[in-house]
Amino acid sequence: MSGHASAPGKAILVGEHAVVYGLPAIAIPLSGMRAKAIAKATDYPLTIIAEDLTRPALTIDVDEIDRSDPIALMASLTMQYLGVADIKGEITIRSDIPIASGLGSGAAVSAALGRAIAQLHGANIPAEELNRLVFEVEKLHHGTPSGIDNTVVAFELPVYFVKGGAVDFIDIGEPLWILLADTGIASLTRAVVADVRALTKRSPTLTSRILDEIGSIVHEARDCILRGATGRLGELLTANHRLLQALKVSSTELDRLVDAALTAGANGAKLSGGGRGGNIIALADEYTVDGVKQSLFEAGAKRVMLTVVPQGSQDDDSD
Ligand code: PMV
Repeated sequence: MSGHASAPGKAILVGEHAVVYGLPAIAIPLSGMRAKAIAKATDYPLTIIAEDLTRPALTIDVDEIDRSDPIALMASLTMQYLGVADIKGEITIRSDIPIASGLGSGAAVSAALGRAIAQLHGANIPAEELNRLVFEVEKLHHGTPSGIDNTVVAFELPVYFVKGGAVDFIDIGEPLWILLADTGIASLTRAVVADVRALTKRSPTLTSRILDEIGSIVHEARDCILRGATGRLGELLTANHRLLQALKVSSTELDRLVDAALTAGANGAKLSGGGRGGNIIALADEYTVDGVKQSLFEAGAKRVMLTVVPQGSQDDDSD
């Protein structure tokens, strides 16, 4: 058996960090930015090549899995799920999702790898199962992940997500024109999540108020997305950014990009993901998108990507 498998990146629209504490968040898949895994049958034990991730080829021996290595752990969890102790083949992973930028690169690599291993075995992993396996690997990347990354990446649909809750896909009332602008600064989500946790201990009253306000924003944002109220949705994004600043997860570079997007006429803008580096998202429309993009480059963005989330209802059964 051989084949191609892939999984998208993701961006959080609203609710990051608060989602770790049981509040809701909304995220979308970035289908134009993917991790890909190419599988080919061989007569030697499963070997995984991930050149982009600057690591040597890895040969999987289920009796000697290094469970602190995300690739090895995903391979072993997938083989366990498939009920096989030994698979022959070679998988090459390539990803165009920047690492440590809040775009779900780790989850996408795991998901693509899991799918490719299943293909080598002549099987298919349903999205719910893949979601569960990738979540286990996300614990290595994030420490205490909420589970939002693996959910969006495994299902490749916009989600309204609550930790531990049922997966809830969102219908999109009007297309969402979203620009992602990269500060070019790598930031480890695990470290920022730990700092927020320390802040909740130091200033519990303040942080719980901020987190609750973010929760209310997400609640209203969901309604705006359903109704196609993109003007109000933009205001909510910007309000969410101010609250993330209060949680001390923004940075000068992120703030500069947010301000540039707003000045150029975006409906709203905020950091997206763990913060301190990585990307901002700006909500534009077909008329403002070019001006906002130019302004983001002028403000120092290293890369700007447009993604348009199409209008429509989501298919809850897709996998
Ligand atoms: O992977 P990132 O950087 O998009 O961060 C995920 C969002 C957080 O809420 C900060 C962490 C989590 O596990 O949900």
